Order: sequence, then C-alpha cells, then structure tokens
Amino acid sequence: MGSTLLEVRNLKKHFPSTAGWVKAVDGIDLKIEKGKSFGLVGESGCGKSTLIRVMLKLLEPTAGQIFFDGQEITGYSFKEMRALRKEMGMVFEDPHLALNPRMTVFDIISRPLKIHGLARKKGDLTVQVVELLQSMGLQTEHMIRFPHELSGGQKQRIGVARALAVEPQLIFLDEPTSALDVSVQTKILKLLEKARQERDLTFFFISHDINLIRVVADIMGVMYLGKIVEIGPKELLLDDPHHPYTRGLFSAVPEPDPDHSITEIQLTGEVPSPVNPPPGCNFNPRCPHADDRCRVEEPEFRELADGRRVACHLY
Ligand SMILES: Nc1ncnc2c1ncn2[C@@H]1O[C@H](COP(=O)(O)OP(=O)(O)OP(=O)(O)O)[C@@H](O)[C@H]1O
Ligand SMILES: [Mg+2]
Repeated sequence: MGSTLLEVRNLKKHFPSTAGWVKAVDGIDLKIEKGKSFGLVGESGCGKSTLIRVMLKLLEPTAGQIFFDGQEITGYSFKEMRALRKEMGMVFEDPHLALNPRMTVFDIISRPLKIHGLARKKGDLTVQVVELLQSMGLQTEHMIRFPHELSGGQKQRIGVARALAVEPQLIFLDEPTSALDVSVQTKILKLLEKARQERDLTFFFISHDINLIRVVADIMGVMYLGKIVEIGPKELLLDDPHHPYTRGLFSAVPEPDPDHSITEIQLTGEVPSPVNPPPGCNFNPRCPHADDRCRVEEPEFRELADGRRVACHLY
C-alpha cells in the first residue's frame, strides 16, 4: 500500500436553489494514493466538477473533512491555501477559456513560476519555459504565440505545461480531452502519462467518458447522483463490476473486446434531481435488483475481500 496524498471523509456540497438544496456532492469518502492515477467516471451532472472544486477549496464544503498529505485542510483560509495550491494543479476541459487571450505562451507558463517564487534568473526562466514546452511536445517558437494562434490540442498542451510548471504533487484533470479529436486526445494522454512517471505525479481525472477513464486510470471510481457507488483497481471493476449502476454504465459502452462484454443491466429511466434524491439507496428507482430495504436504508460504502469498495445491499 502506498501512502495517501488526498483524503476526503463524508464530504458534502449543497447549493441553495429556488427548488431547495441541490445535493451536488452528498457524502463522499475517498483516498488517493501517492503516484497513482485515479479516474472518476459518472454521467453529466452527477457532481464530478463540484467535487474537484471542493477538494481544491475553491468552494467551501457544506460538511465533511479534507486532508492533504496527512494534514487536515478543511478549515484553511484562502491565504493558508495559497502555499498548498502549488502542490495541487488543475487542467480544465476547455483549453480556450482557460488561457488568457492577451498573454503569450511564455507569459502564461512563466506566470505561476513567478507567483510561487520558482522562476530562475532571466535567461534561465526562458530555459525553464522551453523545457516545459518540450515536455509537452511543443517547440521554442510556440513561446511567442498567443492562444488564438494555436490549435485546440496545442492549447491543451499549454494548459498542461502550465500545471506542470510549479511541480505540483497532484494534478486534477476535469475532462481534459473532451473538446479534442480522438487522435489529439491520444497524444496528449501519452504525454501526460510520461510526465506522471518522470515527475512522480498523482493524477485525479474526472470524465463522463468511460473509455477515457479506462485508458488513464490505475484506480477507478464510479459516481452517481452526488455519491461514489464503487471504487477499486481498474482491472477489477472492468472485469467484474459489482454495483448495478456500474454494470449498467459499463454495458452501455461499446466494448473493444467482443468476447468480454457485460450486457447484464440496461440503464432505464432518468437520473433523479439532486434536489430530491430518492430515499434509501438513491439508485433504487432505476435498479432491477431493488427491494424494500433499498427503498428505505442507505447502503454502507463497504470494503470487500478483493479490495474494492461498493455501496449496495447486494454485497
Ligand atoms: N454553483 C452552483 N449552484 C447551484 N447548483 C450547482 C452549482 N454548480 C453545480 N450545480 C449543480 O450541481 C450538480 C452537479 O454539477 P457538476 O457540474 O458538479 O456535475 P458534473 O458531474 O461535473 O457534470 P458534467 O459532466 O456535465 O460536467 C448539477 O445538478 C448542477 O446543476
Ligand atoms: Mg463537470
């Protein structure tokens, strides 16, 4: 077992709305091991981005605790978070919106170095930026360009280079390649994996795309309506998903290997509103195995003998 870099306990984020409280994140327990790539998959609106924002403390949690490298950071002020922000980078979905259109690539990448006091002397700063560009497969000449002069893939490489610049321990990636063509996606994912191994980084990916999570994750989590329903080593979940929602989600995706398809559960019905989640297990209205107990009693998030955790009364 490696050591835990980030942990959350019973984390919640509820937003006020005219209809009532939106329970976007509703009691999440999660541990991310150092050096691993954690991939969280879940349908649109299940609370993935909110979870990241709360873990980064860009949003205040409604309840629960957050620990980074063994230190509780739940109550940290904005100022106290500043030093820690260097350790936690972020890559966003839309590289175009994430980059300041009036800054050159050099300015974009060197800015966090300056802010965190990591910029070497003048000439050396250029070398630092060039090294970062090269690590993402870009060239020196890209330094003087503005974002609008770059392709979507190049912009996302800049977004990653900027996140790598301050040498964080952990990088959150929110749908990092959703806006890009498949061939460009593959290249960027390879560069990310190379950077992770060379720099001993920990990744936290979120996506609605199982195929992306399948490629990038060592450990996989499945989120449904503000909660995590199953977590475990990727192979374990892909070979033998347990939670009925995980089974439904995986069987809805074309399986690259035809001898190995999970066609057990078809997801029917709509995802209920996070304002009024169903009582008991919140998946019960869509679950073919639901019984009376599932309609009243919320299942515990239990660890099984094989090392996975699952929240379902069947296990
Ligand atoms: N600032 C906010 N105020 C009110 N409700 C919000 C706010 N941010 C998110 N929500 C709601 O919280 C729920 C979760 O949203 P979130 O963006 O975290 O989902 P997501 O899993 O990232 O979805 P997607 O895959 O579409 O990005 C949604 O119902 C959303 O409408
Ligand atoms: Mg999102």
